[in-house]
Amino acid sequence: MCGIVGYVGPRQATPILMEGLARLEYRGYDSAGIAILGDDGTISVQKRAGKLSNLAGALGEHMLAGTQGIGHTRWATHGQPNDTNAHPHQDCRGDIALVHNGIIENYQELRDELRAQGHTFTSETDTEVLAHLIERATADGTKLADAVFHILPKLRGAYALVIMSRREPGVLVGARSNIPLIAGLGDGENYFASDITALLRQTRRMVTLHDGELAVVTASSLRIIAPDGTDVQRDAITVDWDAEMAEKGGYPHFLLKEMLEQPDAAQRALLGRIIATPAGGLAPKLPEFEAWAATGALPKITRVVLLACGTSYYASLIARAMIERWARLPVEPWIASEFRYADPVIGPDCLVVAITQSGETADTIAAIKLAKAAGVPIIGITNTVGSALTREVDATLFMQAGPEISVPATKTFVASVMVLTLLALSLAAARGTQPADERTALLQQVETLPTRMETILAVAEQPDNHIMAVARGLAGCQSAMFIGRGVGYAVAREGALKLKEVSYIHAEGYPAGELKHGPITLLDQHTPLVAIAIQSHTYEKVISNIQEVRARHARVIAVATEGDRLIAEHAEEVFFIPAVDELLAPTLAVIPLQLLAYYTAVERGCDIDQPRNLAKSVTVE
Ligand code: F6R
Repeated sequence: MCGIVGYVGPRQATPILMEGLARLEYRGYDSAGIAILGDDGTISVQKRAGKLSNLAGALGEHMLAGTQGIGHTRWATHGQPNDTNAHPHQDCRGDIALVHNGIIENYQELRDELRAQGHTFTSETDTEVLAHLIERATADGTKLADAVFHILPKLRGAYALVIMSRREPGVLVGARSNIPLIAGLGDGENYFASDITALLRQTRRMVTLHDGELAVVTASSLRIIAPDGTDVQRDAITVDWDAEMAEKGGYPHFLLKEMLEQPDAAQRALLGRIIATPAGGLAPKLPEFEAWAATGALPKITRVVLLACGTSYYASLIARAMIERWARLPVEPWIASEFRYADPVIGPDCLVVAITQSGETADTIAAIKLAKAAGVPIIGITNTVGSALTREVDATLFMQAGPEISVPATKTFVASVMVLTLLALSLAAARGTQPADERTALLQQVETLPTRMETILAVAEQPDNHIMAVARGLAGCQSAMFIGRGVGYAVAREGALKLKEVSYIHAEGYPAGELKHGPITLLDQHTPLVAIAIQSHTYEKVISNIQEVRARHARVIAVATEGDRLIAEHAEEVFFIPAVDELLAPTLAVIPLQLLAYYTAVERGCDIDQPRNLAKSVTVE
C-alpha cells in the first residue's frame, strides 16, 4: 500500500524522488521520507508524518544533495503514523537506509533476537528489523546484494524493499515478495518504483520484478537474481501511458477528472472488441478469452466464480446478472478475503473470473492462487500491465482505462463492467445460449454507452448544478441508505461506498426488499434514502419499497430512467439516466451517485483524492 521510489544516476536525486512520491501519494499518505547518499559518503534522511507537503516543507530550500536516493510514502501498518515511524529506516550506525512496502509478520521474534545481540531500535515498525538484519549480515564485509539475498529466506510476510548502503555508493538493491516492484530504465540512470506512474516523467521503459526476485541497479546496469541465485534475463516493457494521463490537467481533483474521463475509459475498454459478423450482426471479440476457450476447457465449465474486493466486487455483482441471464451458467460472486479462508468447493468444472484494477490486491491474488492450486481455469481482468494478476491467470483482459490516481475507483469500475459485459456475451456466444440478434441488439446499445455517459456528465460542466444542490442537503446528514434490486442493488452498494469513502457519511447499500427486515428502523427525516429506480422488471417493487420509506418521513433521492413521469410523485429529487437494457444501465446509473458523493465531500471539505485511512492498492491482508 505504501509507495516506493529509488534513483541512481548523474542528476540530483531529491527532486526526482519528490516528483515520484507526488505521483505515489495515492498509495498512502500517513508519512513521507527520503534518504540521500551525499558526495561526502554519508546518508541523510528527512521524513515527516502526514502528507508529502510536510516533507517538502521540512526540506524547504535545502534539498538534500546527492545523486542517489530512496523515497517512501507510508500507509501505516505497524506503529503510529509519526515522524519516527516514517520510512526510510536505518541500522544502528546509519550506514544503511531502506524503504519497505508490506508487512514482516515475524518481525517481533527478529527484533527480540537483534535486541539481544545489542541492536538499538528507534521506531515501532516491522520494517526497522530489516535494516538491522542487513547491518548484521554486512558486518563482515559481505556485499549489500549478497546480504539481502541471505536475509530474505528469514522473512515471513509480504514485501517490496529498496535498500542502499553508504559503503557501496552507486548501488540500489530491490527485492519483492507478493508486493509489486519495478525497475525503470533510463539513459545512464536507473530507478526503482512501486508503480509505473511514479516514473512516467522519467522513463517509460520498465522491467517488472517477479516474486522472490532480487534486483541490483546501478546507473548503467540492472541485474535480476532469481530465488535460486541464478541470473534472470528479462526484456523491458514500454508502457504506453504518458505522464499527462497521470496529472490533474487543471481539475481540482483527480476524482473529478477521472469521473469525466469515464466515457473515454469505456470507449477504450471496448476498442476493437466489438466486430461485425458475416451475417450483418455484431459480436464480442476478446482474443484472450477465445484462445483460452480454444483449449477445449469451456464445455467442462458448469459454474463461474467471481473474485474481487470493494468496488471491483460490486462490478462482479453486475457480471453475475449478465452471465446468468445470457450464458445460463450459475455464478457465485465472492469477496476475495472471504473466499481464501472459506475452504470453497471448487475444481476444474469452475471458471474463475478475478477482477482487480490494480492487479495487486493481496486478498484477490491469494484467492486466485488458491483457485489455481485446485486446477481451476482463471480469467483475470485488470487495468495494470505487468501486475501480479497477469502472471497467475490463464488469460488477462485489460480494462485499458488509463491510470487511475484518485483512491476512490470510478473509471476503472466502468471499464471493468464494460469488459465483463463483453465476457458475458462471449460466454453466451460460445455456449450457444443467446440468439445472435439479441446479442447484436445488446452490443448496439453497448456501443452507445460512452456517449450516454457524456450526456449524464454534462451536468458537471454547469457551475451550480442540480446534483450539487442535492449534495448541499446531504452534506449535513450523518447517514444515508441506498437501495436497489438486481443490478440496481449492485449500483446501490457502489453508490454507498463512494459516498462513505469520500464524504465520511455513513452509508449502507441494501437490496430494496430487505429494508423491511430490519434496516428500515434507521430511516427518519434525517436519513435520506437513495433509490435506484431505473426501468427494470422490478421497477414497481422498488417503488413500493420507496413508499414504505416515505411513510417514515425519509427524504428520497431517486436515480430513474428518462421519460419516467411518475417518479416525481415518489421522490423529492430525481437524477435521470438514458434508457437502455436494464443489465446495461449500471454504468450510467452509477455516474450521478459518483457525482453526488464528490460534491458532498467537497461541501464537507474532505480530502477527496486521498480519503483518510485508505490507499489505492491494497497489498496487505
Ligand atoms: C473503492 C475502491 C476499493 C477497491 C478495492 C479493490 O473506491 O477503490 O474498494 O475497489 O480495494 O481494488 P482492486 O480493484 O485494485 O483490486
